[in-house]
Amino acid sequence: MQTIRDLAALREAIAGFRAAGERIALVPTMGALHAGHMALVEEAKRHAQRTVASIFVNPRQFGPNEDLDQYPRREGADARMLNEAGCDILWMPTIETMYPEGFATTVSVAGISAVLDGAARPGHFDGVATVVAKLFNQVGPDVALFGNKDFQQLAVIRRMVADMDFDIEIVGVQTQRDDDGLALSSRNLYLSDEDRGRAVALPRALGVAARAIARGDDANDALEAAKASLLTAGFDSVDYVAMVDAETLAEMPAADRPRRLLAAARIAGTRLIDTIPVEPLEHG
Ligand code: PAF
Repeated sequence: MQTIRDLAALREAIAGFRAAGERIALVPTMGALHAGHMALVEEAKRHAQRTVASIFVNPRQFGPNEDLDQYPRREGADARMLNEAGCDILWMPTIETMYPEGFATTVSVAGISAVLDGAARPGHFDGVATVVAKLFNQVGPDVALFGNKDFQQLAVIRRMVADMDFDIEIVGVQTQRDDDGLALSSRNLYLSDEDRGRAVALPRALGVAARAIARGDDANDALEAAKASLLTAGFDSVDYVAMVDAETLAEMPAADRPRRLLAAARIAGTRLIDTIPVEPLEHG
């Protein structure tokens, strides 16, 4: 695997793949890689001959009081994992490459960026859309892979790709979970053992609510019960537990639509998110 930090060198390497007629997949990440990211790389290899993973902790998607400075950085371990997984290029742009002096453009996907996580984290999805648009233009992949766990992010990116005619297939990959059900996340590293134990209440609460809604219980009651159970289990606050249309993210869709539950809650200062389909046959 080549680690590249310079845009001209990246373009040259990509041109080599293109000259050989190879398809290219991109796995954008912020590093602190775990099995969830590795599942993206494995899936990437099924879609393309070459895989590029990027690591860039993107300051534009963190709010002023969020965890940008604290966000785990583990470059050596990340590079080893990607190499072992068969990644071809690790793209690690510098902050100057991504946001040179005078940088003035924001990509903003209206509507779906404003609700749920977007309401709780103003500007977050503008930061995500802007950096992902840049990564797409730098790498020029045929296909890009993102985790289903960040379900709203995936919806924002799909909308951006459709609206801006990016000729890139977007693939959402099933959430990877620890044995007890907690979704893998780089932010799980912030949790003490005790809080990590309590955090399992998040997937459990979603599971209970999804089953209740699927069998016809009142959805509002099920969502309220999920919020209450998170607080009882030791979460400090709940940003939202919502049921949305899996395609449009409109809240409270009818039962004939693909429905998903999305939640964000804080435990000991760490904000965790999770999502599951209401109808269990869909991929989680
Ligand atoms: O999901 C992430 O890790 C980030 O939001 C992404 C897509 C790499 C953009 O910085």
